Amino acid sequence: MLRSRIIGVGMYAPPKILTNEDFEKIVETSDAWIITRTGMKVRHIADESMASSDLSTKAAQEALQTAGMNASDIDLIVIGTISPDHAFPSTACLVQANLGNKKAACFDVSAACPGFLHALSIADQYIHCGRYKNALVIGTEILSKITNYEDRNTCVLFGDGSGAVVLKPHDGEEGIIDTLLGSDGTLAQLLIQPAGGSRMPATHETVDKKLHTVFMAGNEVFKNAVRTMESAAIGILERNGIDPSEISLCIPHQANIRIIEALQKRLGLPDEKVFVNIHKYGNISSATIPIGLYEALQEGRIKPGDLVLLVSFGAGFVWASALLRF
Ligand code: ACO
Repeated sequence: MLRSRIIGVGMYAPPKILTNEDFEKIVETSDAWIITRTGMKVRHIADESMASSDLSTKAAQEALQTAGMNASDIDLIVIGTISPDHAFPSTACLVQANLGNKKAACFDVSAACPGFLHALSIADQYIHCGRYKNALVIGTEILSKITNYEDRNTCVLFGDGSGAVVLKPHDGEEGIIDTLLGSDGTLAQLLIQPAGGSRMPATHETVDKKLHTVFMAGNEVFKNAVRTMESAAIGILERNGIDPSEISLCIPHQANIRIIEALQKRLGLPDEKVFVNIHKYGNISSATIPIGLYEALQEGRIKPGDLVLLVSFGAGFVWASALLRF
């Protein structure tokens, strides 16, 4: 059977970090509150000169190197991001230029935290139908640039980073088995960057009110996150006739350790089958899953033949899951 298989992975996290103790000096918060309520300890923050395409290019170069592929041979570049360099052109086009590729189809996908899984699902379809012979799929965020560092409800949560994978067709069991995508746009206002688009173009007033930063009704988002992470995970397992006990590793979106624990309990998975790196990165939206995948492979937590479940949730509301055989 023909499947899209991951043949290379890469990641980049900027060296500068912000600790919980750093936040104690910026807003009214405490290390104890942040750890207990979120599980986060540090996040990586890009310096001012960097944009999403810079982080993406670094992750992509490593993914291409591990895949043993030349950048000039890439057919398709898809980036999941809600913090692109510009509204247009796409960050994917800028990464293409940085890599020195002149032939790939390039576009960004806006699906918040599950943006990488949406990009992966799209690239998988193209490879599956034979339109493209390979794809570079990236999840990148520079959330520090759209975070209000005076709002304790959100500023402690977000970080920056990028993860990338290279896909190629493979005739065999290994590869992407299935992807599941879903959304509920009626809840869009609960998690939103209000200004900067055509609804509320940037003005002095929107900038003064910091309306170009992330606004989140945390508690409502939390409840929906628990519900939809579970339904996205159970949904893809059920439609493939797979019991949760067959999963070798689950890599969930890292928005809150309590959301991850609720998912773990629902799936009945032991600790060693759930990947957690929230303490190191915070929530990096669409970069979370590919960075998790990268680190799980590096740490030897994914072995040949393993069944891996990826699951995410975010603004929209949008959710997604993927099942892969390694
Ligand atoms: N430090 C100290 N106190 C704080 C902080 C902080 N950093 N942030 C909020 N609080 C306070 C609140 O002001 C509130 O105080 P009050 O009771 O006096 O009003 C109290 O803590 C409780 O606030 P809640 O919002 O109820 O806290 P909760 O336990 O829900 O935790 C959190 C907040 C961490 C944001 C949680 O709701 C959450 O993780 N939500 C989901 C986030 C998520 O899943 N995002 C996904 C996608 S992100 C994307 O798509 C870009």
